[in-house]
Amino acid sequence: MIHENYSLKKLNTFGIEASARYYTECSSIDQMIEILSQKPFVNAQKLILGGGSNLLFTKNFDGLVLKNNLKGIELIKEDKDFYFVKAGAGEVWHTLVMHCIANNYAGLENLSLIPGNVGASPMQNIGAYGAEIKDHFFELEALHISDKKIHTFNNATCKFGYRESVFKREFKNQYIITSVTFKLLKNPSFNTRYGAIEKEMEAMGVKEINIQAISQAVCNIRSSKLPNPTEIGNAGSFFKNPEVTSDKYKSLKVQFPSIVGYDLENGNVKLAAGWLIEQCGWKGKTIGDAGVHKLQALVLVNYNNAKGSEILNLSQQIMDSVKDIFGVDLEREVNII
Ligand code: FAD
Ligand code: EPU
Repeated sequence: MIHENYSLKKLNTFGIEASARYYTECSSIDQMIEILSQKPFVNAQKLILGGGSNLLFTKNFDGLVLKNNLKGIELIKEDKDFYFVKAGAGEVWHTLVMHCIANNYAGLENLSLIPGNVGASPMQNIGAYGAEIKDHFFELEALHISDKKIHTFNNATCKFGYRESVFKREFKNQYIITSVTFKLLKNPSFNTRYGAIEKEMEAMGVKEINIQAISQAVCNIRSSKLPNPTEIGNAGSFFKNPEVTSDKYKSLKVQFPSIVGYDLENGNVKLAAGWLIEQCGWKGKTIGDAGVHKLQALVLVNYNNAKGSEILNLSQQIMDSVKDIFGVDLEREVNII
């Protein structure tokens, strides 16, 4: 069924009021192909929607919004070391993580409680607490919007990077991801590099480390740090953490001794954007209903009825002040529509 002038307010976690000229939900690939072939939609702009947790609508969408509802989680094969688990793009990400944990398929536990759906997870190679999906990704299937054929992508052809993939760059708006298959460990290798996980497990009284405990620790930390979108509209980190050369980092460190940075394998340093934004005085600030969260300066929020353009303007002011004070360019993580 196709809806016209459909409100997207409940379909984006920022809670921004915007409408779609046309809106539809698809629970099969055949249905997608049928709709994409209909005359009004062949040349229309298209937006593929998952859970709407990494989007900012700055205007109404004058095209077709297609919500991907493909379901199913299946163990498709296993060998001595791995389980291969395939999930439909419309499955909720955390449901997949919980399914894996319940069955002792290890690897996704550090990525517990990230909002959104499975189909969007490769878009920006979601990551948290020392892990990224690329670490356990096997392949994905995607429907090419023009030739209407299913193409398969592996780890290399997805060109994953920090919050990056080919689907945000050269193949932007060309594919609908329909399923993602993960390669999960039979013998877990626990990833507690992120110090806060061990501390939380200690506080939880965990005696023996396991994937359930790691997942619970991650859920606890996330719930204490990040605003819940059902209470305050937001899309998680609004900006990426910027990468600078080690020389630039050294000179910043002289001027700002408490600057927070992490060494990268390529010799550069990743700066904590939340620290930069806080130092510019933005933490907890509001302009109308648009604001910078009071506990996490990297998260922009909609306190009530902010327009997408107001959040976007606020983000520009933040980018300008970080550039002025630190000479560092911030890049938005959230997809601006
Ligand atoms: P949507 O917002 O619906 O879409 C995002 C983009 O992907 C859009 O461009 C959309 O067109 C495209 N897209 C969606 N589905 C498909 C598909 N099937 N095929 C093709 N294109 C598609 N992200 C992290 O990486 N780490 C975190 O720790 C993290 N924490 C967060 C915390 C909060 C409170 C919130 C609100 C967000 C957080 N995010 C985090 C961001 C967000 O959860 C992820 O980006 C998530 O993958 C978005 O999924 P979604 O289904 O909501 O995507
Ligand atoms: N910090 C401040 N002030 C702030 C916020 C952070 O000074 O207001 C500093 C602190 O020193 C802190 C450091 O920044 O130690 C890092 O903060 P945090 O651990 O909260 O992580 P982050 O860099 O803000 C990143 C991801 C999150 C992910 C967490 C945990 C990006 C852009 N964000 O946030 O991902 O959940 O690490 O791994 O990489 C998302 O992408 O939407 C997201 C939430």
